[in-house]
Amino acid sequence: MSDLIERARELDERDPLAAVRASFVLDTATDPATGTAGVYLDGNSLGALPANVPGAVEDVVRRQWGELRIRSWTESGWWTAPERIGDLIAPLVGAAAGQIVVGDSTSVNVFKALVGAVRLAGGPEAGRDEILVDASTFPTDGYIATSAARMTGCTIRPVAPGEVPAALGPRTAAVLLNHVDYRTGRLHDLPALTAAVRAAGAVSVWDLCHSAGALPVGLDAHGVDLAVGCTYKFLNGGPGSPAYLYVRAGLQDRFDSPLPGWNSHAEPFGMRPAYAPADGAVRGRVGTPDILSMLALEAALAVWSRPDVTVDAVRAKSLALTDFFLECVAAYVPAGRVEPVTPQAHGERGSQVALACDDAGEIMERLIAAGVVGDYRAPDVLRFGFTPLYLSFTEVERAARVLADTLG
Ligand SMILES: Cc1ncc(COP(=O)(O)O)c(C=O)c1O
Repeated sequence: MSDLIERARELDERDPLAAVRASFVLDTATDPATGTAGVYLDGNSLGALPANVPGAVEDVVRRQWGELRIRSWTESGWWTAPERIGDLIAPLVGAAAGQIVVGDSTSVNVFKALVGAVRLAGGPEAGRDEILVDASTFPTDGYIATSAARMTGCTIRPVAPGEVPAALGPRTAAVLLNHVDYRTGRLHDLPALTAAVRAAGAVSVWDLCHSAGALPVGLDAHGVDLAVGCTYKFLNGGPGSPAYLYVRAGLQDRFDSPLPGWNSHAEPFGMRPAYAPADGAVRGRVGTPDILSMLALEAALAVWSRPDVTVDAVRAKSLALTDFFLECVAAYVPAGRVEPVTPQAHGERGSQVALACDDAGEIMERLIAAGVVGDYRAPDVLRFGFTPLYLSFTEVERAARVLADTLG
């Protein structure tokens, strides 16, 4: 045990991102029973609060809203916030500017993207009447894909991501995949799967909820057609912060949104009875943006402008943290008590570790009571998220030790 504690200390000393932790609000108070502070391993569900956000939100509320009132739509940049903040997210997912718009929830963006994808592919009229969807998808994507299929005259086929290439055919219109599986933490092969979808003449839609802000995505480099993602996990935008939609530049002029609200009109203040879509990423907008959440997100993204915070540095630390956690779990937890379901191979691992365990629900309750906050996913998964911007190796070692005590 003392070896791993010492190793954690050394890893923290050499950690190039160690100083970034001070940009977040985390527990500092120590628990009198254990003599230690809590460990937050649920940033893959709700990221921690960036320290600059309360002040930024206060300014939005008191000055921009309270004093400038409606003038803020122009003078405080409210109207253009969806595209401006999209351009802040773009480099984090490997996209050039002008292709991402922020707004609505991931669920709503899955709907826009998937119906848009079927329309781009030509749909049933062009003989493309099948949507393939990741069989292990986060449920909302599956529910929405099913409805999108009904509305577009398509059928839906659940397929394991690895089997997508074999399932593709001349009838495939669109393929909806998760970059990282929310339960297991498995990272899917976005470059190869996107290429296979493209070769079949279908349109790819990726859900980046569990990868954006944790690892390189390379949307442009890999030719992804459409993508969506949330901002409240590894981007730390806050509870219910708005999601985003990526439409590849080459498809934007043909993207036909199923939710053509007035914000995406070419002339939104023309108040015309007929719809005419705007050019560019704006076409993905719907209605009035949720300014308070959106500007909290903008402040949260400021951490990515630090020179030491790069996606590659984050990825390197994420792999080091998850490797170290798995090593500590193997050393501390009696053999057979938990089973890692997250792949060992770096190329197949997101930024979380999932451990299967029979009494996972009860164990997680006890872990949280002991200050180690992860989450539980039915029926048997203990899920631990690792946010490299604010986690230390010392905390990771402590979490594994508390887990071993709890399981014992
Ligand atoms: C992969 C994935 N897609 C979608 C969602 C949910 O999206 P929404 O923000 O619409 O609730 C989540 C939420 O955790 C998710 O993990």
